Amino acid sequence: MTASLRIRVATPADAAAIARLQSASWRVAYREVLSDAYLDSDIDTERLSVWSECLNAPAPNQHVAVAERAGRVVGFACAYGAYDGRWGTLLENLHVSDEAKRQGIGASLMAHVAAWSLQAHPGLGMYLWVIVSNAPARRFYERLGALDAGEDFWLPPDGGSVPKLRYVWPDPATLLQFG
Ligand SMILES: CC(C)(COP(=O)(O)OP(=O)(O)OC[C@H]1O[C@@H](n2cnc3c(N)ncnc32)[C@H](O)[C@@H]1OP(=O)(O)O)[C@@H](O)C(=O)NCCC(=O)NCCS
Repeated sequence: MTASLRIRVATPADAAAIARLQSASWRVAYREVLSDAYLDSDIDTERLSVWSECLNAPAPNQHVAVAERAGRVVGFACAYGAYDGRWGTLLENLHVSDEAKRQGIGASLMAHVAAWSLQAHPGLGMYLWVIVSNAPARRFYERLGALDAGEDFWLPPDGGSVPKLRYVWPDPATLLQFG
């Protein structure tokens, strides 16, 4: 029997699991985008320091959620409510561990963030940035009804400039059906 999925608000005790998941996910999803030297460096420690700070001293508009199965974190999302006057709540991070992909966990996290945003910041939309070359993530967001609303460049930590797209949901309620 498959253990059931639980989505809950993250606590400081989740920092290490979130950092590990994000580092592993970057190493796969961003292999062609970031340099090998950067991805193969100790990004786990750098991520741990970032997430420890985020979870111990959260910004007032921050919402971090983890998806947990059998006591293990298998996905997480981080959003900032009312981040942009025009586009609304920013979904800054969404990652699902490799072995848990295509099981609806990403979609459930999106629905969870949408529900939080609707409650905390009613009347606002939701948006995110996705790297143009991240085809799997783009297909995922498009499947969830994202609208393409412009292009910009991401300046990654190891230098360079990477094209990215703004994907938006003017009404986050359309995401609730995926929860
Ligand atoms: C993008 C990501 C969060 C999706 O999470 P997930 O849990 O695998 O997605 P779901 O199972 O909820 O997918 C829902 C639907 O989206 C679509 N979809 C998801 N991944 C897809 C892929 N790789 N290719 C095509 N369609 C995809 C499918 O229609 C899927 O439904 P189906 O499996 O019944 O066909 C996950 O692949 C991930 O962590 N990627 C690496 C990190 C990343 O790129 N994050 C986004 C940064 S902007």
